[in-house]
Amino acid sequence: MKSVVRNKNVERAPAPRLYPSRRRGRPKIQLPFVAVTFAMTVDGKVTTKNYASVDFTSREDKADLIRQRALGDAVLVGHGTIENDNVRLGIPREDLRKERIARGQPPYPIRVIVSNKGRINPRLKIFQTDFAPVIIFSTTRMPLKTREQLQEKATLYLSQARRVDLRWMLQELRHDYKVKYVACEGGPALFRSLLEQGLVDQLNLTIAPFLFGGKNAPTLTGVSFDFLPHSVRCSLKKMKVLGDECFLTYRIARHPERNRLPRRSFVRRPGGIPARKL
Ligand SMILES: NC(=O)c1ccc[n+]([C@@H]2O[C@H](COP(=O)([O-])OP(=O)(O)OC[C@H]3O[C@@H](n4cnc5c(N)ncnc54)[C@H](OP(=O)(O)O)[C@@H]3O)[C@@H](O)[C@H]2O)c1
Repeated sequence: MKSVVRNKNVERAPAPRLYPSRRRGRPKIQLPFVAVTFAMTVDGKVTTKNYASVDFTSREDKADLIRQRALGDAVLVGHGTIENDNVRLGIPREDLRKERIARGQPPYPIRVIVSNKGRINPRLKIFQTDFAPVIIFSTTRMPLKTREQLQEKATLYLSQARRVDLRWMLQELRHDYKVKYVACEGGPALFRSLLEQGLVDQLNLTIAPFLFGGKNAPTLTGVSFDFLPHSVRCSLKKMKVLGDECFLTYRIARHPERNRLPRRSFVRRPGGIPARKL
C-alpha cells in the first residue's frame, strides 16, 4: 500500500489532549473506548500450546467478530496474533461498510499493530492491501531493514523505550487519527497488558463448546503465572446463546487511574525515554 510515512524529528511525545476535570487532583485525559473481542473454550483457552491458528468457533462467532470490528475507528492487534493468523483486518460485508459511512466513519477502520521488538514480517497479508492505513506502534528495537521495508507500507511510531507504552499509543490514536473507539482483537499478551494498565472498557467474549486442556495453552490473559496487579471487575451487560455457543458482553470497571494524566515526565517521555514518530 502507499505509505503515509511522516518523518518527524520528534524528540518528545506530543502534548496530551486535556479536558477540564470537575474533580480535584490531576486533570483527566481523553482516551478512546477500548472493546476487546475474544473466543475461548469452556476451559478458558484461546488457542493451543503451540499458538497455532485454530478454528474452534462457529460462523456466527466469525460474523460477530466482523460486526465488532466494524464498530471501531481503529482495529488493534498484537504482533503475535497478526503473525499467527495472518489476517487483513478488513470488513468483508458491504452492509456493515455502509452503516459505517452512515455513522460518519470511513468504510474501514484503520489497522493498528503493536510490537515491542518490531520484528514484523513485511510480507504479511495485511501489508498487501491498501483499503485502510496500517499504523505500527513499536520501539527503536525494530531492525533497520524491517523499518525500511515497513515504511513503504505503514506509518511507524517508534518509541525509544523497551516496550510500547499502551496509554501513549491510545493517546496518539486519539490525537492524530481522532480514534474514539478501538476494536481490539487480542491476543492474550496484549489484552493482559491493556488490563494491567486499566485500559479496557468492554470485553466481548464467546464461549465455544470445546475443552483443550494444557497448562501451556494460553488463556484470555496469556500464560503468565502472575496474578494481575489488581483483580478486574466485569459486569455482564448482555448474554446470547446460539446453538452451543454463548456470547457475552462485559463492561469492565474503570480503574481509578485510567483517565488520570500520567506524571509529567511520563507524558513527555513515554517509558522514561523520548518517542520518535517516523
Ligand atoms: N481465540 C481468540 O479469540 C484469539 C484472539 C486473538 C489471538 N488469538 C491467538 O493468540 C495467539 C497469539 O497470542 P500472543 O499472546 O502471542 O498474541 P498477541 O497478544 O497478539 O501478541 C503478543 C505480542 O504483541 C506484542 N505486545 C504485547 N504487549 C505489548 C505491549 N504492551 N507493548 C508492545 N507490544 C506488545 C509483543 O510483540 P513482540 O514480540 O513483537 O515484541 C508480544 O510478543 C495466536 O495463536 C492467536 O491465534 C486467539
